[in-house]
Amino acid sequence: MRQALVFGGSGQIGRALLARLQAAGWTALAPSRAPQPELPGVRWLRGGFEQTASPAAIDAIFSCGPLDGFARWYAQAPVAVPRVIAFGSTSVEAKRHSQDPHERDVAARLHAAESSLFATARVRGADATVLRPTLVYGAGRDATLTRIARLAHRYRAFVLPRGACGLRQPVHVDDLAEAAVRCLDAPASAGRAYATPGGEAVPYREMVARVLAALPSKPRLIELPSPAFALVLGAARLTGRAQGFGDAAVARLREDLVFDAAPAVRDFGYAPRAFRPQAGMFGF
Ligand SMILES: NC(=O)c1ccc[n+]([C@@H]2O[C@H](COP(=O)([O-])OP(=O)(O)OC[C@H]3O[C@@H](n4cnc5c(N)ncnc54)[C@H](OP(=O)(O)O)[C@@H]3O)[C@@H](O)[C@H]2O)c1
Repeated sequence: MRQALVFGGSGQIGRALLARLQAAGWTALAPSRAPQPELPGVRWLRGGFEQTASPAAIDAIFSCGPLDGFARWYAQAPVAVPRVIAFGSTSVEAKRHSQDPHERDVAARLHAAESSLFATARVRGADATVLRPTLVYGAGRDATLTRIARLAHRYRAFVLPRGACGLRQPVHVDDLAEAAVRCLDAPASAGRAYATPGGEAVPYREMVARVLAALPSKPRLIELPSPAFALVLGAARLTGRAQGFGDAAVARLREDLVFDAAPAVRDFGYAPRAFRPQAGMFGF
């Protein structure tokens, strides 16, 4: 039986990955900084990157946690594992030229982490792959669509500025977990980073409308002219309900963030689903 070390196994993608690995006959060692519920085929190790020693008898390492932390751990831990598969983010490209210095810093750190990971793998003779998801949903724990669903349910409405038509490709956690497992048996994916977007590009307002239509309370989507939206957003910021939604994020509502899945389809048969949200995917 093959054994994997899975960082970030308690997270939304990580949980889906642990289930997929178990179904494929793997066992997993999964570090977590908090106590976790028992799962078949999983042995939880207590601690984060800093506390995790390099375990023996590991056939593959997966990282579904912060890529920079994982790249540092991998560079320092004396591990001789033939296969490493880690999740990064399309933010490495999308935020590279952001007007927001914090966002540019995120992109720079992701880029540095990817480079470090590939460099370490090369030195150790390991095959590394980075998967870069777009906007993740499906486990009812994401900070975008689930957050929108909760706010909309609570206030029976959700407000967007008019013209929020930038394309998005929401990607389901199970499709990402499947992609990671498929890479194991895809030699062409070694030494490469792939965009792993969802199976459909939808305008932002349409994406939100589909989420709202899936909720039992059927909240309304209200589209406001920019000045009126700015007032609503200002009030939401004052009350702490617009965390992480800065001016750069507002400006991006009109921008397409579209990534090409073709290399992932070609190299490991990536097959993400179209965006057909259901209430359960947002914890309802
Ligand atoms: N969510 C998105 O929309 C999105 C989009 C693009 C890319 N991604 C990337 O995909 C990956 C997984 O995202 P996710 O949304 O599934 O994550 P998540 O649900 O936020 O979970 C984060 C995971 O990282 C682990 N973690 C955090 N700090 C750690 C540390 N210091 N040491 C060890 N583990 C640590 C957590 O483990 P414990 O708390 O149990 O220790 C948890 O399992 C990340 O690399 C993320 O950047 C996410």
